[in-house]
Amino acid sequence: MTLTKQDAVNQMMGFFQAKTLTAALDLKLFDHLHNQDLSAQAVADKLNSPLRSVEQMLIALRAMGYLDKQGECYHLPQEHASFLVSSEPMWLGWLGRHIDTFLYPLWGELNTAVVSDSNQRQKVFGDNRSWFDILYQNPEDVTDFQEFLGKFAAPFIEGFIQGYDFSQHHSFLDIGSGIGTLPIAVAESHPDINLTICELPQACAFLRDRLAVQGYGDRINVIEGDVISGKLALQDHDLIHLGWMLHDYAPEIQLTILQNIYQAMPAGGRFMASETPLNDEKSGPEFTALLSLNMLVSTDGGIESSTEEYLERFRAVGFENVRIIELSGPRTLICGDKPQSTNL
Ligand SMILES: C[S@@+](CC[C@H](N)C(=O)[O-])C[C@H]1O[C@@H](n2cnc3c(N)ncnc32)[C@H](O)[C@@H]1O
Repeated sequence: MTLTKQDAVNQMMGFFQAKTLTAALDLKLFDHLHNQDLSAQAVADKLNSPLRSVEQMLIALRAMGYLDKQGECYHLPQEHASFLVSSEPMWLGWLGRHIDTFLYPLWGELNTAVVSDSNQRQKVFGDNRSWFDILYQNPEDVTDFQEFLGKFAAPFIEGFIQGYDFSQHHSFLDIGSGIGTLPIAVAESHPDINLTICELPQACAFLRDRLAVQGYGDRINVIEGDVISGKLALQDHDLIHLGWMLHDYAPEIQLTILQNIYQAMPAGGRFMASETPLNDEKSGPEFTALLSLNMLVSTDGGIESSTEEYLERFRAVGFENVRIIELSGPRTLICGDKPQSTNL
C-alpha cells in the first residue's frame, strides 16, 4: 500500500472531524433539529449561544454530511438522527463524552507513551489510580463508558447468540459484563439457563440498577469479583465468558487472569474470551492496531495480541481443546475446556 502526502495530511487533520462531532453531541445540537428544520438563528437561540459561531458549526456539520440545508433552514435526516439525537437508543453521545473526557487527553501524550512504554494517566489525571478506578470515579463516566461499550458489543452478541449452542450449558457467567448486554441477550433466547455477572465492585451498583430498570434484576445475578486478585466464585458455572478484557492488561497479567479463572472454575467447564485480535502478520486490522495504542496510553500494559498468542496463553495455564469458535461479527471467540479430572 502506498499512501500520498495528501493521505497523511488528511489523517493528521482527522481530529477536526472527531472534535466537531463530539462537540456537537456534547452541545446536544442535533436534538434541536430532531423532527424540525431550523434556521441558524433559531439553533443559536436554542443553544443560547452567538449566531456567528453556531453558524460556523452548522456549516461544518453540513460539509461533513450530517446536516442538509433546505432554504434557510438546517435539516437533520432521520437516518442520522437515529445515532445523533440523545433520546434515540443508538445515540453516540456516550462515546463522545468518553472520548472528550478520557481518550483525547491521553492520546495527546502518545509520543511520551511510546518512548517510555507507559500509560499517561499520571500526566493527564494527576494520580496513580488504576484505569478502571479513574473511569469509575463519577457515576456519569461509568454510564458513558458502559453504554458505548454496550453499543460496540451488539454485533458480536448477535453473532454469538446465533452461532453458539448455549442450550448445552446450565449456567452461564459473564465476567466484566459492562451493562450486561450479553447475559440479557442469552436470557431472551434461553429462558432455562442460569445467568450471573461477575464485575468489579466499583461497577456493580450501576449494573444492578441498570438490570433492575430493564426488568432483569431477578433473572441475572450480579456478584463482585476481581480476576486479577483472584477473588472469584465461579464453581457453579459450566460456561464462563470474558469479553474484551484481556487486551486491557499486559500479557503477563493476562496469564494471571487466565490462571485465576482456570483455578476457580469447575472441572469440565468451558471458558471463552472474545477479543478483536491482530492478524498473524500483525499488519492489521487498522482499528485493532490503533486500539492497541489506546491501551498503551490508558492501561497498565494493555496490548492487542494475535489469535495465536491468545491460544498459546490458554494452553499455558492448562486449558485443553483450545480452539477458535467461528462466529459472524467483529470478534474472535477463543475457547478452552478445563479437563474433567485435574489437580488444580
Ligand atoms: C472493556 S470492558 C468490556 C465490556 C464487555 N464485556 C464487552 O465485551 O464489551 C471491560 C470490563 O471488564 C471489567 N473489568 C476490568 N477489570 C476487571 C477485573 N480485574 N475483574 C473483573 N472485571 C474487570 C470492567 O469493569 C469492564 O466492564
